[in-house]
Amino acid sequence: MKLWGGRFESGPSEVFEQFSGSLHFDRKLVFADVEGSQAFARALAAQGILTSEERDRLVAAFREIGKEAEDPHYFADANDEDVHTFVIRKLTEKVGALSAKIHTGRSRNEQVSLDVRLYLRTCSQTLLELLNALMAELLALARKYPDAVVPGYTHLRRAQAVLWPHYLLAYFEMFSRDVERVQQTLERIDVLPLGSGALAGSGFPFDRRAIANDLGFTAITRNSMDVSGDRDFALDFLYCCSVIMLHLSRLAEDWILYSSEEFNWMTLGDGVTSGSSLMPQKKNPDSLELIRGKSGRVFGDLTSLFITMKGLPMTYNRDMQEDKEPLFDAFQQASGSLAMAKVVAESVILNPAVPASAAEESWVVATDLAEELARSGVPFHRAHQLVGQLVLESAKAGKRPSDWTPESLSSFAPEFKPEMVRLLAPKEGMASRELPGGTGPAAVAKALAEAEARLRQLQPAATHI
Ligand code: ARG
Repeated sequence: MKLWGGRFESGPSEVFEQFSGSLHFDRKLVFADVEGSQAFARALAAQGILTSEERDRLVAAFREIGKEAEDPHYFADANDEDVHTFVIRKLTEKVGALSAKIHTGRSRNEQVSLDVRLYLRTCSQTLLELLNALMAELLALARKYPDAVVPGYTHLRRAQAVLWPHYLLAYFEMFSRDVERVQQTLERIDVLPLGSGALAGSGFPFDRRAIANDLGFTAITRNSMDVSGDRDFALDFLYCCSVIMLHLSRLAEDWILYSSEEFNWMTLGDGVTSGSSLMPQKKNPDSLELIRGKSGRVFGDLTSLFITMKGLPMTYNRDMQEDKEPLFDAFQQASGSLAMAKVVAESVILNPAVPASAAEESWVVATDLAEELARSGVPFHRAHQLVGQLVLESAKAGKRPSDWTPESLSSFAPEFKPEMVRLLAPKEGMASRELPGGTGPAAVAKALAEAEARLRQLQPAATHI
């Protein structure tokens, strides 16, 4: 069956049919197509194009199609051009000639926009739920080791000591921005395109606001040409998936390093690691490596649609059919990776003594000491210079910070007061960073409690579908 053909003397070539068909992937939209078509049947009845009896028959037939489509074999022998054609063929099998009325004043160009919006609405809700679950797990992991001290790194060199919860809260912030981003994207997805026709607006005066209410959209689109050529909402969704993957990839990289023998800060659960077929001792962080690997794939999905859309003349062009596989793939990888990361986080066992001694034996306290000098009245550049000399001297003499005594410190330079020696313990310096956003213990305890409260408020709104 075709939704067109009158104008043609011969049918499409087999090669073209194979080449252009999209049912093998856009079948994922079948439930959205059914839902949108039911609302459209009601809109046609409101226009007097369908009687209420016809409307009810169509709505019931669509419901059956939706039920039957839950069976994956439903599509087994189908070779329809796309999911929209498939659904109308199934409708015809059920209601006969009546099915010929369903497409009155409707174009597949707006239908595909509607279906993708309905589909992405559900996907966005799923991402929000998965982000929430991961964020809750990060907070739980912070609570397990509230006082653990770890070195913070810049350039992957030990920089300043921070609390373990402070480190995890950094990722919490990234994922909470992802939540905001998905919510903002949902607002742009949540606009009804139906009524736009192929590009010029439908020839029937549908009450578009009523259709929007029917389908749970908050707004209607303003320009029919824009609708026909617009995939911004799909790009927004792909960008959301990409930034989520970027954050997950950095977390994965951190934990691959931290769980390595070289760092030895943490242990990953057996359930999220795998062994080697040759080397019996190996316990590899494959779950995290796959998250990191899949991030590249999702960026590819974003890039793919970006480049597909570039330079397309107004309005719909068949190129746009290439939006779906990247969308489906990005959602699958991002949702799978979020779920995986949560399970990894659940399995993490921190070995707090290791990062604590890494902090103690390095000069992560240098800044604390320089700032204490500055507080005592030494200009900061001078203080920086003095502590730099202390570090250099220590490096030459093989001294750790804890090897300095009040006497040896104050005799190194008169600016150092004997009591400043206490700052050579990483936990001491932290206490000076109690401003909001800092790693001071009180600030972190407050930030952790606030994060827990924010997360409770973030519970995603109930899904529309
Ligand atoms: N399958 C098409 C797509 O995904 C939608 C149908 C519009 N096709 C058309 N030739 N106007 O973009």
